[in-house]
Amino acid sequence: MNQTPRKILVTSALPYANGPIHIGHLVEYIQTDIWTRFQKMRGHECHYVCADDAHGTPIMLRARQEGIEPETLIARVAEEHQADFAAFRVGFDNYHSTHSPENQVCANTIYERNRDSGHIAKRTITQAYDPVEQMFLPDRFIKGTCPKCGAEDQYGDNCEVCGASYSPADLKNPVSAVSGAVPEQRESDHYFFKLADFEEMLKSWTRGGHIQDEVANKLDEWFESGLQEWDISRDAPYFGFEIPDHPGKYFYVWLDAPIGYMASFRNLCDKTEGLDFDDFWAADASTELYHFIGKDIIYFHTLFWPAMLHGAGFRTPSAVYAHGFLTVDGAKMSKSRGTFIKARTYLDHLNPEYLRYYFAAKLGSGVDDIDLNLEDFTARVNSDLVGKVVNIASRCAGFISKRFEGRLTDEVSEQSLFNEFITAGETIADHYEKREFSRAVREIMALADRANQYIDEQKPWVVAKEEGKDAELQAICSDGLNLFRLLMGYLRPILPGTAEAAETFLQIEPLAWEQLSTPLTGHTIGKFKPLMTRVDPKQIEAMLEHSKEDLAAQAPAAVVKPSADSPLSKDPIAETIQFDDFAKLDLRIARIDKAEHVDGADKLLQLTLDLGGETRNVFAGIKSAYAPGDLEGKLTVMVANLAPRKMRFGVSEGMVLAAGPGGKDLFILNPDEGAQPGMRVK
Ligand code: 2FM
Ligand code: ZN
Repeated sequence: MNQTPRKILVTSALPYANGPIHIGHLVEYIQTDIWTRFQKMRGHECHYVCADDAHGTPIMLRARQEGIEPETLIARVAEEHQADFAAFRVGFDNYHSTHSPENQVCANTIYERNRDSGHIAKRTITQAYDPVEQMFLPDRFIKGTCPKCGAEDQYGDNCEVCGASYSPADLKNPVSAVSGAVPEQRESDHYFFKLADFEEMLKSWTRGGHIQDEVANKLDEWFESGLQEWDISRDAPYFGFEIPDHPGKYFYVWLDAPIGYMASFRNLCDKTEGLDFDDFWAADASTELYHFIGKDIIYFHTLFWPAMLHGAGFRTPSAVYAHGFLTVDGAKMSKSRGTFIKARTYLDHLNPEYLRYYFAAKLGSGVDDIDLNLEDFTARVNSDLVGKVVNIASRCAGFISKRFEGRLTDEVSEQSLFNEFITAGETIADHYEKREFSRAVREIMALADRANQYIDEQKPWVVAKEEGKDAELQAICSDGLNLFRLLMGYLRPILPGTAEAAETFLQIEPLAWEQLSTPLTGHTIGKFKPLMTRVDPKQIEAMLEHSKEDLAAQAPAAVVKPSADSPLSKDPIAETIQFDDFAKLDLRIARIDKAEHVDGADKLLQLTLDLGGETRNVFAGIKSAYAPGDLEGKLTVMVANLAPRKMRFGVSEGMVLAAGPGGKDLFILNPDEGAQPGMRVK
């Protein structure tokens, strides 16, 4: 190989700090992590940074809904995100937040330099305003009737029924999704980034080999339709950074989100001796900078971001790599089918290495969507990883341990086979470099087949029984283990956990690419322990059920809305219903006779409810708010005519209502003389 070491900075898109990581997100983090682990294994200096994307209206409203400060929300989510990433062995060198002093400094610098060069314009715009909440409304917080097809309850800028795109001003009967009030149109001064100033620079950058071909084609369309000015400011109240020279105006979340890449790296430099920020960000930097992103955020990363950087005198990215979306069993992830799987839910049932492998086996360098077919997932993990790769070690290790005190031969005997594996290593490396992971996997599995074929032919289990054939047995098994070592080396970027376990078993240092061609000879290995177990389809079933349960637990209680002018009126209204819909609800007072923990459920309690003579079994997602003992004897309101729902733990025969911000604070009624089990509530 003998390449000169490169200096590389890599990022994945920053996840929003208002929700959990799910397996759809993981496509990108796993893809990026495999690539950075590969670069590190090749001996390059490679830094992988990320952060939480912590600003914006949805995060501000979510915190309000929970009755907490945005800072508290983002701190909690940051912990959850990082725990999930660590469990999937996504090995960030730094994980930071866009709500950080470093990001504020970087955002101000980028803004001020662009402003001073004349790239910021001020214009007055008219926008929907919620008179109750006293805030301007982003499009997605306005709902109404589609102007094209008349479908009700459509979001501000496009209709999910007929697919039409429109301006929120065209929506019929618009209401604020925050308060339910009818929005007014109000004027406000906004600040715009003049993207068109960068047209020439962007055309040459996008044609300079920095993006995938299919992305370049998309960009040509955007160039043809003209580069529009980009609104980078938002009015208070807003959770973000105030614009330096404009009190009451905030940077739009998407302005400071990509700057979070820089900020996270700045934070890493401040902690790392000898790591220089300018080396990676100065206009004349000779280092490499790569952004891995989803195909939905190409515009931000291939137009706004390089332009902002250039306008502020920084370098532009070496490349932006977009990937497609994840489908599960051929369809969009679905909450009701249980295929909207949170990272944590997956981890409760399955080994993260399986998913890393499966994604790698599906990922190429393009923007195509990838499908997680759960049957195929089970079959591939079991046949490739357990049946082929791990099997090689288990077929050879026992003989070496029992018959040769763990000692491998002093030289490789099947040198040509070993060399075949080494030669294939360069092709595999090339596939990794080009992000053609599925091709790398295919090559590696062909080698695994070759190694198994070798063992099948040599039949060590037969040789072991023959007199005077010890040397032959040791040679076959030593060769087999050397081939296994190479396979684990090639798979290491994809399976860091399994590779680590293999390194422990082989008693070797972490495998580096350059050392792979030197075989393990005259070396003593450790005791073999199974490195991976088979996927049991029951685990998949349980995970899907668990995901359905997550959905049930997310909506433990219908939100009892305080009146619009109450200080508690901070919950966005999901959608409005007609009186007739409301009248269908049979709401009854119920006494909680029994409340019990449910084995294996994080959020559910099993309640036995007395409805005035009739007993109901209900699973309610209120465990975070109550110990079972606190509930027994209390009264609650239940939806008595909800269709029974089969859950993993049994059938739930209704739903209890509670009020409050959620989490630890849900209100259940104390019994008083007026309320009796079975009473109708309306
Ligand atoms: O689309 C998203 O999930 C954004 N939070 C991604 C931000 S990437 C970068 F620009 F920060
Ligand atoms: Zn429509």
